[in-house]
Amino acid sequence: MRTRSREPQTLGSDGTLERMARILAARNIDPAAVTSVEEPEPAPLDALLTRIPSRYQGAVADHPKALAWVREVAEAAVAPGIGARRQVATGPSLLMAGVVGAGKTWQAYGAIRRLVQEGIGVRWRATTAADLYAELRPGSDTDSERVLASYSRVPLLILDDLGAARSTEFVEEQTYRLINRRYNHELPTLVTTNLRIGDLRAHLGDRVASRLSQMTERVEFEPVDRRRQRRAA
Ligand SMILES: Nc1ncnc2c1ncn2[C@@H]1O[C@H](COP(=O)(O)OP(=O)(O)OP(=O)(O)O)[C@@H](O)[C@H]1O
Ligand SMILES: [Mg+2]
Repeated sequence: MRTRSREPQTLGSDGTLERMARILAARNIDPAAVTSVEEPEPAPLDALLTRIPSRYQGAVADHPKALAWVREVAEAAVAPGIGARRQVATGPSLLMAGVVGAGKTWQAYGAIRRLVQEGIGVRWRATTAADLYAELRPGSDTDSERVLASYSRVPLLILDDLGAARSTEFVEEQTYRLINRRYNHELPTLVTTNLRIGDLRAHLGDRVASRLSQMTERVEFEPVDRRRQRRAA
């Protein structure tokens, strides 16, 4: 049975174009005008924001330390070539610590949006620590070394809810490998946690806690759960 014709069929073949021209002429529409109102290509900068989860699509970083971090990372951004958009390179990191619902994840996504709005090319990834450990666990259907490498090397990482997963030797070791690489290469990392630094030390070991305390600026939040506050209002 023949399933394909010998001649390749192309979209927009002469017949289609002629038919379209006839339809436009019948409606008194200039074909040139149709071309000029075509949907614009999505701007590459907007494309950087499409992976932000819907809840945080409108996030605005307004914490003074988040804004200061954006400034520093933007100043350190480097253009890979003449006329190219500046890209996030090295820079400081933040440890956003506070109670459940304080607005930590909101500030983290808000900071990424702000960088993009300032015209900086931001290659970024975001994961909760618990999701990352699940991806790295032996037996998960991912190549764990590649997964760890991609989170370790991405120029900007949101590492959400550090310390929320049960502490095990595996969790401690994988966190150490991730944080150590980002520490060594001074890659900007936005860490959020519900734990105090002392509890992080108990949870993830002294190596992780020591590196975090040097590489991050601590951002404190009002001890208010905004999720419950909103319901009560
Ligand atoms: N500055 C803000 N303006 C408006 N809404 C906010 C702001 N900060 C946080 N929110 C909203 O409050 C809720 C809680 O914020 P978020 O998820 O960032 O908290 P969190 O500190 O990350 O909590 P958790 O520790 O449970 O992950 C969300 O619905 C978020 O959209
Ligand atoms: Mg959060």
